[in-house]
Amino acid sequence: MSSEVERDVVPCIKILTLFPDMVRTVLETSIPGRAARQGQVRYEVVDIRDFSVDKHRTVDDTAYGGGAGMIMMAQPVVEAVESVRQHDDATVILTTPQGETFDEALTLELLDDLRQKGELILVCGHYKGIDERAIELVVNREVSIGDYVLSGGELPALVIADALVRRIEGVLHNEDSANNDSFTAVRDGGLDCQWYTKPPEYRGLSVPEVLLSGHHANIEKWRADQARRRTEERRPDLQD
Ligand code: ADE
Repeated sequence: MSSEVERDVVPCIKILTLFPDMVRTVLETSIPGRAARQGQVRYEVVDIRDFSVDKHRTVDDTAYGGGAGMIMMAQPVVEAVESVRQHDDATVILTTPQGETFDEALTLELLDDLRQKGELILVCGHYKGIDERAIELVVNREVSIGDYVLSGGELPALVIADALVRRIEGVLHNEDSANNDSFTAVRDGGLDCQWYTKPPEYRGLSVPEVLLSGHHANIEKWRADQARRRTEERRPDLQD
């Protein structure tokens, strides 16, 4: 028998939430939806409330020591994770404003993790927070999508899922290629350039001449120059 742990061939993103309908709707839409229909990724959406043990399906309570805001109880969260986790080494992420900030480098790291392990679990935090013991027991990474507070972890989890799925090999077609998006190697980690489509003139504004020239080397040089200039003006922090 092989000592290799069997991994799912189609990577599975598992999202644990109190709002499964909201999450499913987004995952069925646009590129994340197309990727699943094409069999490049799978999603499992789990309702944390299904793991409540009382008849009111309670998942939260007041904080020990007092203070405003409800805290998600450890038990439903821990059991929801255990119900979907296929391998002990699975990465389990809690979305929280207190986590490390999500960016391009973390996208690529998590993508690699998803490829290798075949699963990635995202737990959507809610209310004031989640009982620290759940984090100690089943979470091994905490991720924030920026320095602002949202009503819940669903949008952050969906942001992470979307950013990962569009980077899975074969998900993006030529027409929506991500190769020269902002933050990619082609853009030296900086911003993308401006883009135009038909018509060549709109309300007195013309498309830059070079883009209509058909001269590919000049076009690429112009785009690279513009991207560099944008990065310099808008995000000097991204420059080396
Ligand atoms: N939950 C609430 N706000 C959040 C944020 N900015 N990032 C991740 N999870 C959150």
